[in-house]
Amino acid sequence: MINREILKSIHKPVMLEEVMKKMHINKSVDIVIDATLGGGSYTRAFHQAVMPSGRVIAIDRDLIAIKRFKRFYPDLSNEITFVHEDFSQIKNICKKLSIEPKRIIADFGISSDQLKEDNRGFSFLSDDLIDMRMDISTGKPASSIINEASEKELVRILRIYGDENRAKKIVGAIIKSRPILTTGELSEIIVEVTKGFKNKIHPATKTFQALRIVVNDEYKEIETFLKDSIEILPIGGYLGAVSFHSGEDRIVKNIFKEYAKMCKCSENAPVCMCNGKQILDIQTKNGITPTQEEIKSNPRSRSARLRVAQKVN
Ligand SMILES: C[S@@+](CC[C@H](N)C(=O)[O-])C[C@H]1O[C@@H](n2cnc3c(N)ncnc32)[C@H](O)[C@@H]1O
Repeated sequence: MINREILKSIHKPVMLEEVMKKMHINKSVDIVIDATLGGGSYTRAFHQAVMPSGRVIAIDRDLIAIKRFKRFYPDLSNEITFVHEDFSQIKNICKKLSIEPKRIIADFGISSDQLKEDNRGFSFLSDDLIDMRMDISTGKPASSIINEASEKELVRILRIYGDENRAKKIVGAIIKSRPILTTGELSEIIVEVTKGFKNKIHPATKTFQALRIVVNDEYKEIETFLKDSIEILPIGGYLGAVSFHSGEDRIVKNIFKEYAKMCKCSENAPVCMCNGKQILDIQTKNGITPTQEEIKSNPRSRSARLRVAQKVN
């Protein structure tokens, strides 16, 4: 079996130029946090932009990503601070390192490396155990949800996190086929039960997405990360987020909007009671999407959206 750990990253960065420009990452910045190291392209670009006086902190909950980077960029690695942690721990991480970062960016979801690695269970095109944990040292694999959750719970998961309108049909087939051991089996069950439906994308896409989000508690992670990052950024600092589907983007959009409002009182309040200050200034009104050229060279980027905000108060 191929040990992917020793292979170089195959992940192509998404909207890197736009990130550098909108986040104002340059020599004048002293500390940048890349909250999602992944294949390391953002980290390398940040390092190049802020060195020699600046410092880059690279976080990832997947130790394999950190090991890979260190293996392939040993010289660079000596100059970068790596943190194997959830990005929801951003406040603790900064406290432990005694730093006040001026730029914080996260590029959500999984990397192409994770999708292609053996034994990770992220892909419906492979035949691995159904794991899907980004951090394999903790939590329960997705197989425990597939094989143990109630029918009602599975339908809820597929609808809420996968936006899957065939959830009942798919879950019915899953329940009948339990125990399901591999991603290949799960994918085949979904393909079979959705025959006759028009599918623009692979019929298992939404089920796999929903399971991954739940296994990794992704929405809660994003919410805590964004709110805590806003808290710890100094005035003038920038926060950026690249999302890959509407569920992620909605969280970013709503939190940015909430903190960009002057007044946080209820819409029904006759007068402002909160003396609210605007905390964020949104720099990307509707978000930025990749150019046609980028989508052509990296089709995975097609659904990405970058949002950036500056802390103003
Ligand atoms: C899309 S990749 C990042 C790609 C990177 N920007 C690059 O250019 O190569 C996302 C990475 O974030 C990590 N990740 C996702 N959620 C995380 C979380 N809650 N805490 C820490 N890392 C996370 C994943 O393990 C994955 O390696």
